[in-house]
Amino acid sequence: MDILIVNGPNLGYLGVRQPEIYGTRGMDAVPELVAELMGPHAHAVRLSFFQSNSEGGLIDRLEQAWKDRVDGIVINPGAYTHTSLALADCLAWIGIPYVEVHLSNVAGRAESIRHTSLTAPRAVGTLAGFGVLGYALAVRALWQIRQTAS
Ligand code: DQA
Repeated sequence: MDILIVNGPNLGYLGVRQPEIYGTRGMDAVPELVAELMGPHAHAVRLSFFQSNSEGGLIDRLEQAWKDRVDGIVINPGAYTHTSLALADCLAWIGIPYVEVHLSNVAGRAESIRHTSLTAPRAVGTLAGFGVLGYALAVRALWQIRQTAS
């Protein structure tokens, strides 16, 4: 199963950016967390990673995922979560099952705009507040759902 993990703007310096909010670990921790969660099935998922600070760059990469027939997407759209109809439109038309991930528990953040997601409605589900573990939990969830569907 090919899974693309996508990070949006300001997520290129995870572990360094406001660690009190976003945690001290970076994306380099994710493959090991996925291996732990997948156990004997670790070989069943192939991960690719992408980060962009631009809306167009994210959409171009998602369209490429569609061309490549990627099986699942884990996406943290960063602040575009709350603002980007363009990104939501893209996720809608490519039709690849995706899980939305947020490092922080956005529902508990002070700024009310963070409580709204334009991209979450079409997601299989959303994980928020687990730091980088959330990406690994999302991979495991996408794999598990596919097993039960087949
Ligand atoms: C974030 C939450 C967003 O509100 C914020 O703009 C981010 C990161 C998170 O992972 O908690 O950049 O998506």
